[in-house]
Parts: sequence; structure tokens; C-alpha cells
Amino acid sequence: MPHNLSRCFALPDTPLLVGIKQQNANGQRISDWTNNPDNCAAHWAEEEQFILAHLIPLLLCGEQSAQLVFNQEITRLFSQSTVENQSMVNSLIEVEEDESRHDQALQWILQHLPIVPTQKKIQGQARLFYAKLGRGEGRCQHFIKIAVLDACVTQIMHEFEHSSLGVSHPFAVLCGLIKKDEAKHVYVAKHYAQALGATPSMFKSEQVAVCKSLHKLLSSQNQHFAALGVELARVFNALEAKWQ
Ligand SMILES: [Fe+2]
Ligand SMILES: [Fe+2]
Repeated sequence: MPHNLSRCFALPDTPLLVGIKQQNANGQRISDWTNNPDNCAAHWAEEEQFILAHLIPLLLCGEQSAQLVFNQEITRLFSQSTVENQSMVNSLIEVEEDESRHDQALQWILQHLPIVPTQKKIQGQARLFYAKLGRGEGRCQHFIKIAVLDACVTQIMHEFEHSSLGVSHPFAVLCGLIKKDEAKHVYVAKHYAQALGATPSMFKSEQVAVCKSLHKLLSSQNQHFAALGVELARVFNALEAKWQ
């Protein structure tokens, strides 16, 4: 059953480029989650479905954007493949594969949620946010932003994992798994940005800026985060304090 929303960002032309499927243990857990009918969102409480119908488009857009960014970078590196960058290429491939699994899991959820009137508007705002993130920037700056963004996403996933849904709710379980991948992505994107010349002061200036604009994007759904016990102001204050 297709859901109401078209993709936020196109699938890469050459998805999962090399065909060396690097299924890691966490990736296997996410694939298993997605293939398990017990996790189907159709079984979730009506109120939970309504809340998540507003929040999933925000998350989904990020997964689709990240897939495209990593795919483009892998394609670029492949054309200049050297022994030195092979392990970096492998790390980037692993991230693209992770994002693809996150995308599929979230799409499967969305397919079984009600269509809410503001869904397209929410998706549009998210698309704009991610498109702006990469616009007119050098690759180094872009990967700094991705590292910062994924650090924020790691925290948001942690909040969902420990939200009022309860830790054994299928969505909480999925968010706990995605959180593990995102923490790894922070590491990969950070190292990649450093290889492209990023300095600590460059990270510092992006931390506040990216954090603020993500907070603004998510704030439009404040009430739905709050309904799950996730107070965005507290989450973002804690992130900013950590980076001061
Ligand atoms: Fe992701
Ligand atoms: Fe990520």
C-alpha cells in the first residue's frame, strides 16, 4: 500500500553502488524489525498513529536526503579511487545502506498511518530544510553539518526510545536501533569532514547554527513531540549546553 507522500528526495540513480552489501548486526536488526508483521503500525493505538503521522515525515525526509548525499559522495570517490580512500569509501557505503534501511522502515510505518491534512506541508518544510543545508556549500562544510545534524538526530531517537510510548513499543525499539546507526554516522561524517580540512572551530560554529535551525523545523510539531513526552526545548538546550 503506497502512502500519501511522494519521496522527499529522489532515490539515488545508482543505489547502493558497489553491491558489496555490508549488512552489519544492527542493520540486520532493523531489516528484521521491518519484516516483522507484529511491528506493523496498523496495530498501534489511534492516538499514537495520529501523532506519528505528523512526525514521521520529518524523519523520513532526513533519511532520503542523507542517502542521496552519501551516494553522490561515493560516486565521486569511486571515480578517483585510490588505496588511501578505500576504507573511507567503505564507511560512506555503510552509511548509505543504513539510511536506506531507515528510509524503508519509516516508509513502512507511514503506509499504515492515517493521512493527516498537514502531512504534505510538514514534508515541504522538511525538504526545504535539508535542501538548504547542502546549498552553495563546499563538501567539507556540508559534511560538518551532517555530523552535527546526526548528533541531534541521535538525541531525538534517544528521546523517542524513552518516550511515553514505553521502551517495548515497536516504534521505540526501532528508534533505539536507528540511534545506534546515527551515532556511527556522526563519527563517519566527522572524520570525513576532517579529511576534507575541517577544523574544531568550523565544527563549533556549525553546531549552534544547525541545532537552531533543526529546532525551528521540529518546533512546528511541538505539540506532537510533547504528546509523547518529548520536550524539544529541553532536548535542544541540553545539546547546546554540551557544545558550549
Ligand atoms: Fe538515518
Ligand atoms: Fe544518518
